[in-house]
Amino acid sequence: MDNRSKSTDAHHWAHYFRPELFAETGEKSVSTLMEYLVECQNREASHVLDIATPESRLEHWKSRLNDSQSSSGSGLFKHDFLEQLLCRSNHLHDPRYAGHQVAVPFPELAWLGAATALLNNGMAIDEMGPASTPMEEAVMQLIAQYMGFGTKSGGILCHGGTLANLTALLAARQKKAVGNAWEEGVQTPCAVLVSDQAHYCVDRAVRVMGWGKQGIIEVATDDQHQMSKGDLYQKFNEATAAGIHVVAVVGSACTTSTGAFDDLEMIADFAEAHDVWFHVDGAHGAAQVFSSEHRNVLKGMERADSVAMDFHKMLGVPALCTGLFYKDGIDAYGAFSHEAAYLYESQNEEWWNLSKRTFECTKRMLSAAVFGIWEAHGPLLWESLVDRLISRAQFASAQLNLRDNWEVFAHPKSNILCFRLKGVNNSNLRAKLLKHGPHYIVKTRVNGSDWLRCTFQNPLTTEDDIIELIDRLEELA
Ligand SMILES: Cc1ncc(COP(=O)(O)O)c(C=O)c1O
Repeated sequence: MDNRSKSTDAHHWAHYFRPELFAETGEKSVSTLMEYLVECQNREASHVLDIATPESRLEHWKSRLNDSQSSSGSGLFKHDFLEQLLCRSNHLHDPRYAGHQVAVPFPELAWLGAATALLNNGMAIDEMGPASTPMEEAVMQLIAQYMGFGTKSGGILCHGGTLANLTALLAARQKKAVGNAWEEGVQTPCAVLVSDQAHYCVDRAVRVMGWGKQGIIEVATDDQHQMSKGDLYQKFNEATAAGIHVVAVVGSACTTSTGAFDDLEMIADFAEAHDVWFHVDGAHGAAQVFSSEHRNVLKGMERADSVAMDFHKMLGVPALCTGLFYKDGIDAYGAFSHEAAYLYESQNEEWWNLSKRTFECTKRMLSAAVFGIWEAHGPLLWESLVDRLISRAQFASAQLNLRDNWEVFAHPKSNILCFRLKGVNNSNLRAKLLKHGPHYIVKTRVNGSDWLRCTFQNPLTTEDDIIELIDRLEELA
Protein backbone atom coordinates (compact mmCIF):
# COMPACT_ATOMS: atom_id res chain seq x y z
CA MET A 1 0.00 0.00 0.00
CA ASP A 2 1.46 3.40 -0.79
CA ASN A 3 1.18 6.36 1.53
CA ARG A 4 -1.74 7.90 -0.29
CA SER A 5 -3.91 4.82 0.36
CA LYS A 6 -2.98 4.78 4.03
CA SER A 7 -3.83 8.39 4.65
CA THR A 8 -6.30 9.37 7.33
CA ASP A 9 -6.35 12.90 6.05
CA ALA A 10 -9.79 14.22 5.09
CA HIS A 11 -8.37 15.89 1.97
CA HIS A 12 -7.13 12.56 0.78
CA TRP A 13 -10.59 11.01 1.04
CA ALA A 14 -12.25 14.07 -0.40
CA HIS A 15 -10.17 13.46 -3.50
CA TYR A 16 -11.79 10.06 -4.11
CA PHE A 17 -15.25 11.48 -3.57
CA ARG A 18 -14.72 14.54 -5.76
CA PRO A 19 -17.66 15.00 -8.14
CA GLU A 20 -15.18 16.21 -10.76
CA LEU A 21 -13.20 12.97 -10.54
CA PHE A 22 -16.47 11.09 -10.87
CA ALA A 23 -17.41 13.09 -13.97
CA GLU A 24 -13.96 12.79 -15.48
CA THR A 25 -13.74 9.01 -15.08
CA GLY A 26 -17.39 8.78 -16.11
CA GLU A 27 -16.76 10.56 -19.40
CA LYS A 28 -13.81 8.31 -20.17
CA SER A 29 -15.78 5.24 -19.23
CA VAL A 30 -18.73 6.27 -21.36
CA SER A 31 -16.58 6.61 -24.44
CA THR A 32 -14.82 3.30 -23.73
CA LEU A 33 -18.14 1.55 -23.25
CA MET A 34 -19.54 3.13 -26.35
CA GLU A 35 -16.57 1.88 -28.37
CA TYR A 36 -17.25 -1.58 -27.00
CA LEU A 37 -20.86 -1.38 -28.19
CA VAL A 38 -19.86 -0.08 -31.62
CA GLU A 39 -17.26 -2.82 -32.08
CA CYS A 40 -19.75 -5.45 -31.00
CA GLN A 41 -22.53 -4.22 -33.21
CA ASN A 42 -20.17 -3.94 -36.19
CA ARG A 43 -19.08 -7.52 -35.55
CA GLU A 44 -15.46 -6.38 -35.57
CA ALA A 45 -14.02 -9.06 -33.32
CA SER A 46 -12.66 -12.30 -34.74
CA HIS A 47 -14.23 -14.10 -31.76
CA VAL A 48 -17.26 -13.22 -29.66
CA LEU A 49 -15.44 -15.00 -26.86
CA ASP A 50 -11.69 -14.98 -27.28
CA ILE A 51 -10.96 -17.46 -24.58
CA ALA A 52 -7.57 -18.69 -23.46
CA THR A 53 -6.99 -21.48 -20.96
CA PRO A 54 -8.09 -20.78 -17.38
CA GLU A 55 -4.44 -20.95 -16.31
CA SER A 56 -3.22 -18.35 -18.77
CA ARG A 57 -6.10 -16.05 -17.88
CA LEU A 58 -5.27 -16.42 -14.21
CA GLU A 59 -1.66 -15.67 -15.04
CA HIS A 60 -2.69 -12.47 -16.79
CA TRP A 61 -4.66 -11.13 -13.84
CA LYS A 62 -2.07 -12.30 -11.36
CA SER A 63 0.68 -10.50 -13.22
CA ARG A 64 -1.39 -7.33 -13.06
CA LEU A 65 -1.67 -7.74 -9.32
CA ASN A 66 2.07 -8.29 -9.02
CA ASP A 67 2.49 -5.04 -10.84
CA SER A 68 0.00 -3.26 -8.61
CA GLN A 69 2.55 -1.28 -6.63
CA SER A 70 3.15 0.99 -9.58
CA SER A 71 1.18 4.19 -9.78
CA SER A 72 -2.53 3.84 -10.31
CA GLY A 73 -2.99 7.46 -11.41
CA SER A 74 -5.45 9.60 -9.57
CA GLY A 75 -8.47 7.29 -9.65
CA LEU A 76 -9.41 4.06 -7.94
CA PHE A 77 -8.41 1.81 -10.79
CA LYS A 78 -5.72 1.89 -13.43
CA HIS A 79 -6.26 3.69 -16.71
CA ASP A 80 -6.42 0.52 -18.82
CA PHE A 81 -8.41 -1.60 -16.37
CA LEU A 82 -11.80 -0.98 -17.95
CA GLU A 83 -10.47 -1.72 -21.45
CA GLN A 84 -8.92 -4.95 -20.22
CA LEU A 85 -12.12 -5.94 -18.48
CA LEU A 86 -14.05 -5.32 -21.66
CA CYS A 87 -11.72 -7.00 -24.11
CA ARG A 88 -11.21 -10.08 -21.93
CA SER A 89 -14.90 -10.70 -21.22
CA ASN A 90 -17.53 -12.58 -23.19
CA HIS A 91 -19.16 -10.12 -25.59
CA LEU A 92 -22.87 -10.61 -25.28
CA HIS A 93 -23.58 -7.48 -27.27
CA ASP A 94 -22.00 -9.01 -30.36
CA PRO A 95 -24.99 -10.20 -32.43
CA ARG A 96 -23.13 -13.46 -33.02
CA TYR A 97 -23.53 -14.32 -29.34
CA ALA A 98 -26.11 -17.10 -28.96
CA GLY A 99 -24.87 -18.86 -25.86
CA HIS A 100 -26.10 -19.05 -22.31
CA GLN A 101 -29.38 -17.71 -21.02
CA VAL A 102 -28.21 -14.36 -19.84
CA ALA A 103 -29.78 -11.16 -21.12
CA VAL A 104 -27.98 -8.91 -23.52
CA PRO A 105 -28.88 -5.91 -21.43
CA PHE A 106 -30.34 -2.75 -22.85
CA PRO A 107 -27.25 -0.49 -22.71
CA GLU A 108 -29.21 2.38 -21.17
CA LEU A 109 -29.91 0.27 -18.11
CA ALA A 110 -26.22 0.51 -17.28
CA TRP A 111 -26.94 4.09 -16.17
CA LEU A 112 -29.56 2.87 -13.72
CA GLY A 113 -26.98 0.33 -12.56
CA ALA A 114 -24.52 3.16 -12.07
CA ALA A 115 -27.05 5.34 -10.26
CA THR A 116 -28.18 2.55 -7.96
CA ALA A 117 -24.57 1.52 -7.30
CA LEU A 118 -23.88 5.09 -6.31
CA LEU A 119 -26.96 5.37 -4.12
CA ASN A 120 -26.40 1.89 -2.66
CA ASN A 121 -29.63 1.85 -0.69
CA GLY A 122 -29.55 -1.56 0.93
CA MET A 123 -33.27 -2.44 0.70
CA ALA A 124 -33.47 -4.63 3.79
CA ILE A 125 -35.65 -2.19 5.66
CA ASP A 126 -37.84 0.64 4.58
CA GLU A 127 -35.45 3.41 5.49
CA MET A 128 -32.79 1.83 3.29
CA GLY A 129 -35.04 1.85 0.25
CA PRO A 130 -37.38 4.82 0.52
CA ALA A 131 -37.72 5.04 -3.27
CA SER A 132 -36.78 1.58 -4.47
CA THR A 133 -38.95 -0.40 -2.02
CA PRO A 134 -42.32 1.19 -2.92
CA MET A 135 -41.25 1.04 -6.57
CA GLU A 136 -40.67 -2.69 -6.15
CA GLU A 137 -43.97 -3.22 -4.36
CA ALA A 138 -45.93 -1.30 -6.97
CA VAL A 139 -44.39 -2.84 -10.06
CA MET A 140 -44.41 -6.38 -8.68
CA GLN A 141 -48.09 -6.08 -7.83
CA LEU A 142 -48.84 -4.92 -11.35
CA ILE A 143 -46.84 -7.68 -12.99
CA ALA A 144 -48.34 -10.34 -10.69
CA GLN A 145 -51.80 -9.22 -11.73
CA TYR A 146 -50.73 -9.10 -15.36
CA MET A 147 -49.73 -12.75 -14.98
CA GLY A 148 -53.31 -13.51 -13.99
CA PHE A 149 -52.67 -13.88 -10.28
CA GLY A 150 -55.55 -11.71 -9.05
CA THR A 151 -55.74 -8.91 -6.54
CA LYS A 152 -54.36 -10.75 -3.50
CA SER A 153 -51.11 -11.48 -5.31
CA GLY A 154 -47.70 -9.92 -4.77
CA GLY A 155 -44.04 -10.49 -5.24
CA ILE A 156 -40.49 -9.58 -4.46
CA LEU A 157 -37.30 -9.14 -6.42
CA CYS A 158 -34.24 -11.14 -5.52
CA HIS A 159 -30.81 -12.10 -6.79
CA GLY A 160 -31.46 -14.93 -9.18
CA GLY A 161 -33.74 -17.77 -10.10
CA THR A 162 -31.81 -20.14 -7.87
CA LEU A 163 -32.60 -18.07 -4.80
CA ALA A 164 -36.19 -17.46 -5.94
CA ASN A 165 -36.82 -21.19 -6.31
CA LEU A 166 -35.42 -21.88 -2.86
CA THR A 167 -37.50 -19.06 -1.39
CA ALA A 168 -40.67 -20.38 -3.02
CA LEU A 169 -40.01 -23.85 -1.65
CA LEU A 170 -39.47 -22.40 1.83
CA ALA A 171 -42.86 -20.71 1.55
CA ALA A 172 -44.34 -24.01 0.34
CA ARG A 173 -42.81 -25.87 3.27
CA GLN A 174 -44.25 -23.40 5.74
CA LYS A 175 -47.70 -23.59 4.25
CA LYS A 176 -47.98 -27.30 3.53
CA ALA A 177 -45.66 -29.23 5.86
CA VAL A 178 -47.12 -30.55 9.10
CA GLY A 179 -46.42 -28.29 12.11
CA ASN A 180 -44.38 -25.15 12.21
CA ALA A 181 -41.33 -25.92 10.11
CA TRP A 182 -39.78 -22.52 10.74
CA GLU A 183 -39.74 -23.02 14.49
CA GLU A 184 -39.41 -26.77 14.88
CA GLY A 185 -38.06 -28.08 11.60
CA VAL A 186 -40.05 -30.60 9.61
CA GLN A 187 -41.65 -33.34 11.68
CA THR A 188 -42.31 -35.80 8.87
CA PRO A 189 -40.24 -36.70 5.78
CA CYS A 190 -41.13 -34.22 3.05
CA ALA A 191 -40.51 -34.14 -0.69
CA VAL A 192 -40.89 -32.11 -3.84
CA LEU A 193 -41.95 -33.55 -7.21
CA VAL A 194 -40.10 -32.19 -10.19
CA SER A 195 -39.33 -33.35 -13.70
CA ASP A 196 -36.07 -35.13 -14.43
CA GLN A 197 -35.24 -32.22 -16.77
CA ALA A 198 -35.60 -29.49 -14.15
CA HIS A 199 -32.80 -27.05 -13.42
CA TYR A 200 -30.37 -28.42 -10.85
CA CYS A 201 -31.12 -25.56 -8.48
CA VAL A 202 -34.42 -27.19 -7.49
CA ASP A 203 -32.58 -30.30 -6.37
CA ARG A 204 -30.08 -28.11 -4.56
CA ALA A 205 -32.83 -26.13 -2.81
CA VAL A 206 -34.43 -29.31 -1.50
CA ARG A 207 -31.12 -30.60 -0.17
CA VAL A 208 -30.38 -27.22 1.40
CA MET A 209 -33.71 -27.53 3.20
CA GLY A 210 -32.38 -30.73 4.70
CA TRP A 211 -34.67 -33.22 2.96
CA GLY A 212 -31.78 -35.08 1.37
CA LYS A 213 -31.93 -37.17 -1.77
CA GLN A 214 -35.28 -38.68 -0.91
CA GLY A 215 -36.72 -35.16 -0.73
CA ILE A 216 -36.40 -34.70 -4.47
CA ILE A 217 -38.62 -37.04 -6.44
CA GLU A 218 -37.87 -37.00 -10.14
CA VAL A 219 -40.81 -37.42 -12.45
CA ALA A 220 -40.06 -38.96 -15.84
CA THR A 221 -40.44 -36.90 -19.01
CA ASP A 222 -41.56 -37.83 -22.48
CA ASP A 223 -39.46 -37.60 -25.63
CA GLN A 224 -40.13 -33.86 -25.78
CA HIS A 225 -38.93 -33.42 -22.18
CA GLN A 226 -42.40 -32.67 -20.85
CA MET A 227 -43.33 -34.06 -17.43
CA SER A 228 -45.28 -37.32 -17.71
CA LYS A 229 -48.73 -37.18 -16.17
CA GLY A 230 -48.81 -40.91 -15.49
CA ASP A 231 -45.48 -40.85 -13.71
CA LEU A 232 -46.44 -37.74 -11.72
CA TYR A 233 -49.46 -39.50 -10.21
CA GLN A 234 -47.55 -42.73 -9.75
CA LYS A 235 -44.61 -41.05 -7.97
CA PHE A 236 -47.03 -39.19 -5.72
CA ASN A 237 -48.82 -42.42 -4.78
CA GLU A 238 -45.54 -44.23 -4.17
CA ALA A 239 -44.23 -41.42 -1.96
CA THR A 240 -47.44 -41.22 0.04
CA ALA A 241 -47.48 -44.99 0.53
CA ALA A 242 -43.90 -44.74 1.82
CA GLY A 243 -44.93 -42.13 4.40
CA ILE A 244 -43.35 -39.20 2.56
CA HIS A 245 -45.34 -35.98 2.55
CA VAL A 246 -45.28 -34.37 -0.90
CA VAL A 247 -45.28 -30.69 -0.13
CA ALA A 248 -44.81 -29.18 -3.57
CA VAL A 249 -44.67 -29.88 -7.27
CA VAL A 250 -42.46 -27.78 -9.53
CA GLY A 251 -43.28 -27.23 -13.20
CA SER A 252 -40.53 -26.16 -15.57
CA ALA A 253 -41.30 -23.30 -17.93
CA CYS A 254 -39.09 -23.97 -19.64
CA THR A 255 -36.31 -26.50 -19.16
CA THR A 256 -32.81 -25.17 -19.43
CA SER A 257 -31.24 -27.55 -21.88
CA THR A 258 -33.94 -27.93 -24.52
CA GLY A 259 -36.52 -25.23 -23.77
CA ALA A 260 -39.40 -27.66 -23.09
CA PHE A 261 -42.49 -26.41 -21.26
CA ASP A 262 -44.26 -28.69 -18.82
CA ASP A 263 -48.05 -28.92 -19.15
CA LEU A 264 -48.84 -26.45 -16.39
CA GLU A 265 -52.61 -27.05 -16.56
CA MET A 266 -52.07 -30.73 -15.91
CA ILE A 267 -49.79 -29.96 -12.98
CA ALA A 268 -52.25 -27.40 -11.58
CA ASP A 269 -55.02 -30.04 -11.67
CA PHE A 270 -52.74 -32.47 -9.87
CA ALA A 271 -51.71 -29.90 -7.23
CA GLU A 272 -55.29 -28.86 -6.53
CA ALA A 273 -56.48 -32.45 -6.25
CA HIS A 274 -53.74 -33.35 -3.76
CA ASP A 275 -53.38 -30.10 -1.80
CA VAL A 276 -49.80 -29.67 -2.91
CA TRP A 277 -48.07 -26.30 -3.45
CA PHE A 278 -47.58 -25.60 -7.15
CA HIS A 279 -44.45 -23.67 -8.04
CA VAL A 280 -43.47 -22.75 -11.58
CA ASP A 281 -39.78 -22.42 -12.30
CA GLY A 282 -40.26 -19.87 -15.04
CA ALA A 283 -36.79 -18.44 -14.58
CA HIS A 284 -36.35 -18.55 -18.32
CA GLY A 285 -39.74 -18.81 -19.98
CA ALA A 286 -42.27 -17.12 -17.68
CA ALA A 287 -41.29 -13.94 -19.52
CA GLN A 288 -43.34 -15.24 -22.45
CA VAL A 289 -46.39 -14.12 -20.50
CA PHE A 290 -45.73 -10.71 -22.07
CA SER A 291 -46.16 -12.08 -25.59
CA SER A 292 -49.63 -12.66 -26.97
CA GLU A 293 -48.03 -14.91 -29.58
CA HIS A 294 -45.99 -17.05 -27.20
CA ARG A 295 -47.84 -17.11 -23.88
CA ASN A 296 -49.97 -20.15 -24.74
CA VAL A 297 -47.19 -22.44 -23.45
CA LEU A 298 -47.75 -20.97 -19.99
CA LYS A 299 -51.42 -21.89 -19.75
CA GLY A 300 -52.06 -22.97 -16.19
CA MET A 301 -49.31 -20.79 -14.72
CA GLU A 302 -51.97 -18.43 -13.36
CA ARG A 303 -53.13 -21.31 -11.14
CA ALA A 304 -49.70 -21.69 -9.50
CA ASP A 305 -49.01 -20.67 -5.91
CA SER A 306 -45.71 -19.11 -6.93
CA VAL A 307 -43.69 -18.34 -10.05
CA ALA A 308 -40.03 -17.43 -10.43
CA MET A 309 -39.19 -15.28 -13.45
CA ASP A 310 -35.77 -13.90 -14.32
CA PHE A 311 -35.79 -10.40 -15.74
CA HIS A 312 -32.14 -11.05 -16.60
CA LYS A 313 -32.86 -13.78 -19.12
CA MET A 314 -35.38 -12.85 -21.83
CA LEU A 315 -36.19 -9.34 -20.67
CA GLY A 316 -32.99 -7.40 -21.30
CA VAL A 317 -32.28 -6.50 -17.66
CA PRO A 318 -28.74 -6.89 -16.26
CA ALA A 319 -28.19 -9.87 -13.94
CA LEU A 320 -29.22 -10.67 -11.34
CA CYS A 321 -32.85 -9.62 -11.22
CA THR A 322 -35.52 -12.20 -10.51
CA GLY A 323 -39.18 -11.77 -9.67
CA LEU A 324 -40.79 -14.23 -7.28
CA PHE A 325 -44.54 -13.91 -7.57
CA TYR A 326 -47.11 -15.36 -5.19
CA LYS A 327 -50.77 -15.86 -5.96
CA ASP A 328 -51.47 -15.03 -2.32
CA GLY A 329 -49.00 -12.29 -1.44
CA ILE A 330 -49.21 -13.15 2.27
CA ASP A 331 -47.48 -16.49 1.62
CA ALA A 332 -44.26 -14.58 0.98
CA TYR A 333 -43.98 -13.88 4.70
CA GLY A 334 -44.16 -17.58 5.46
CA ALA A 335 -40.86 -18.33 3.73
CA PHE A 336 -38.84 -16.83 6.58
CA SER A 337 -41.20 -16.67 9.51
CA HIS A 338 -44.29 -18.70 10.11
CA GLU A 339 -45.56 -16.29 12.66
CA ALA A 340 -45.14 -13.25 10.48
CA ALA A 341 -47.49 -14.80 7.99
CA TYR A 342 -50.14 -16.39 10.09
CA LEU A 343 -49.90 -15.30 13.71
CA TYR A 344 -48.34 -11.89 13.86
CA GLU A 345 -50.34 -8.75 14.23
CA SER A 346 -51.02 -7.34 10.82
CA GLN A 347 -48.43 -4.61 11.38
CA ASN A 348 -45.78 -7.28 11.15
CA GLU A 349 -46.63 -8.09 7.57
CA GLU A 350 -44.89 -4.95 6.56
CA TRP A 351 -44.36 -4.89 2.80
CA TRP A 352 -42.05 -1.95 3.29
CA ASN A 353 -39.54 -4.02 5.26
CA LEU A 354 -38.51 -6.21 2.37
CA SER A 355 -36.15 -8.53 4.22
CA LYS A 356 -39.19 -10.13 5.86
CA ARG A 357 -39.80 -11.70 2.46
CA THR A 358 -36.33 -11.98 0.94
CA PHE A 359 -33.46 -14.30 1.74
CA GLU A 360 -31.07 -11.41 1.29
CA CYS A 361 -30.64 -8.80 3.93
CA THR A 362 -28.90 -6.20 1.78
CA LYS A 363 -29.74 -6.39 -1.90
CA ARG A 364 -29.20 -4.21 -4.94
CA MET A 365 -31.92 -1.70 -5.85
CA LEU A 366 -33.27 -4.18 -8.36
CA SER A 367 -36.58 -2.44 -8.88
CA ALA A 368 -35.08 0.52 -10.73
CA ALA A 369 -34.70 -1.26 -14.08
CA VAL A 370 -38.00 -3.16 -13.85
CA PHE A 371 -39.94 -0.10 -12.75
CA GLY A 372 -38.24 2.14 -15.31
CA ILE A 373 -39.11 -0.13 -18.22
CA TRP A 374 -42.67 -0.77 -17.07
CA GLU A 375 -43.33 2.91 -16.45
CA ALA A 376 -42.09 3.87 -19.90
CA HIS A 377 -43.38 0.93 -21.95
CA GLY A 378 -45.74 -1.27 -19.94
CA PRO A 379 -45.49 -4.82 -21.22
CA LEU A 380 -45.04 -3.78 -24.87
CA LEU A 381 -41.25 -3.54 -25.01
CA TRP A 382 -40.95 -6.98 -23.42
CA GLU A 383 -43.55 -8.38 -25.78
CA SER A 384 -41.57 -7.32 -28.81
CA LEU A 385 -38.26 -8.44 -27.29
CA VAL A 386 -39.61 -11.89 -26.45
CA ASP A 387 -41.13 -12.20 -29.93
CA ARG A 388 -37.91 -11.11 -31.56
CA LEU A 389 -35.74 -13.55 -29.60
CA ILE A 390 -38.04 -16.49 -30.22
CA SER A 391 -38.24 -15.63 -33.90
CA ARG A 392 -34.43 -16.01 -34.04
CA ALA A 393 -34.64 -19.56 -32.69
CA GLN A 394 -37.51 -20.45 -34.99
CA PHE A 395 -35.69 -19.08 -38.02
CA ALA A 396 -32.57 -21.07 -37.13
CA SER A 397 -34.64 -24.20 -36.66
CA ALA A 398 -36.31 -23.74 -40.07
CA GLN A 399 -32.91 -23.23 -41.72
CA LEU A 400 -31.51 -26.39 -40.16
CA ASN A 401 -34.54 -28.36 -41.26
CA LEU A 402 -33.94 -27.26 -44.84
CA ARG A 403 -30.46 -28.74 -44.83
CA ASP A 404 -29.27 -32.34 -44.88
CA ASN A 405 -27.71 -33.96 -41.84
CA TRP A 406 -29.02 -31.57 -39.23
CA GLU A 407 -31.34 -32.67 -36.47
CA VAL A 408 -33.37 -30.26 -34.32
CA PHE A 409 -34.38 -31.62 -30.92
CA ALA A 410 -37.78 -29.93 -30.98
CA HIS A 411 -39.45 -27.00 -32.70
CA PRO A 412 -38.45 -24.09 -30.43
CA LYS A 413 -41.22 -22.72 -28.26
CA SER A 414 -38.80 -20.30 -26.68
CA ASN A 415 -35.48 -18.75 -27.73
CA ILE A 416 -33.59 -21.94 -26.90
CA LEU A 417 -32.63 -24.20 -29.77
CA CYS A 418 -31.05 -27.60 -29.33
CA PHE A 419 -29.63 -29.21 -32.48
CA ARG A 420 -26.87 -31.39 -33.82
CA LEU A 421 -25.07 -32.39 -36.94
CA LYS A 422 -25.53 -36.08 -37.58
CA GLY A 423 -22.47 -38.30 -37.67
CA VAL A 424 -20.03 -35.95 -35.97
CA ASN A 425 -18.89 -35.31 -32.43
CA ASN A 426 -20.88 -32.16 -31.69
CA SER A 427 -18.86 -31.36 -28.61
CA ASN A 428 -15.69 -31.21 -30.72
CA LEU A 429 -17.53 -29.21 -33.33
CA ARG A 430 -18.42 -26.57 -30.78
CA ALA A 431 -14.86 -26.53 -29.48
CA LYS A 432 -13.66 -25.87 -33.03
CA LEU A 433 -16.16 -23.07 -33.45
CA LEU A 434 -14.96 -21.41 -30.27
CA LYS A 435 -11.36 -21.80 -31.31
CA HIS A 436 -11.78 -20.46 -34.82
CA GLY A 437 -14.63 -18.05 -34.16
CA PRO A 438 -16.45 -15.89 -34.58
CA HIS A 439 -19.73 -17.18 -33.11
CA TYR A 440 -20.41 -18.20 -29.54
CA ILE A 441 -22.81 -21.05 -28.84
CA VAL A 442 -22.97 -23.69 -26.10
CA LYS A 443 -23.70 -27.40 -25.85
CA THR A 444 -25.80 -29.70 -23.77
CA ARG A 445 -26.23 -33.41 -23.17
CA VAL A 446 -29.51 -35.03 -24.08
CA ASN A 447 -30.11 -38.73 -23.47
CA GLY A 448 -26.40 -39.33 -23.14
CA SER A 449 -25.28 -37.54 -26.32
CA ASP A 450 -23.87 -34.12 -27.05
CA TRP A 451 -26.02 -31.53 -28.78
CA LEU A 452 -25.33 -27.97 -29.76
CA ARG A 453 -27.40 -25.35 -28.07
CA CYS A 454 -28.15 -21.73 -28.84
CA THR A 455 -30.04 -19.29 -26.73
CA PHE A 456 -30.82 -16.33 -28.92
CA GLN A 457 -30.49 -13.49 -26.47
CA ASN A 458 -29.44 -10.68 -28.74
CA PRO A 459 -32.26 -8.93 -30.61
CA LEU A 460 -29.66 -7.59 -33.07
CA THR A 461 -28.85 -11.10 -34.31
CA THR A 462 -29.89 -11.14 -37.96
CA GLU A 463 -30.96 -13.93 -40.25
CA ASP A 464 -27.59 -13.53 -42.00
CA ASP A 465 -25.80 -14.08 -38.67
CA ILE A 466 -27.74 -17.30 -38.23
CA ILE A 467 -27.05 -18.55 -41.75
CA GLU A 468 -23.37 -17.70 -41.29
CA LEU A 469 -23.33 -19.67 -38.06
CA ILE A 470 -24.75 -22.77 -39.71
CA ASP A 471 -22.42 -22.40 -42.70
CA ARG A 472 -19.50 -22.01 -40.35
CA LEU A 473 -20.40 -25.13 -38.42
CA GLU A 474 -20.68 -27.09 -41.66
CA GLU A 475 -17.35 -25.74 -42.83
CA LEU A 476 -15.64 -26.67 -39.56
CA ALA A 477 -17.22 -30.11 -39.48
C1 LIG B 1 -35.13 -23.16 -15.62
C2 LIG B 1 -34.10 -22.44 -14.80
N1 LIG B 1 -34.28 -22.32 -13.49
C3 LIG B 1 -33.40 -21.69 -12.70
C4 LIG B 1 -32.25 -21.17 -13.21
C5 LIG B 1 -31.27 -20.49 -12.32
O1 LIG B 1 -31.44 -19.12 -12.45
P1 LIG B 1 -30.30 -18.08 -12.01
O2 LIG B 1 -29.15 -18.30 -12.91
O3 LIG B 1 -30.97 -16.76 -12.20
O4 LIG B 1 -29.98 -18.37 -10.58
C6 LIG B 1 -32.00 -21.28 -14.59
C7 LIG B 1 -30.75 -20.73 -15.18
O5 LIG B 1 -30.42 -20.93 -16.29
C8 LIG B 1 -32.96 -21.93 -15.40
O6 LIG B 1 -32.79 -22.05 -16.71
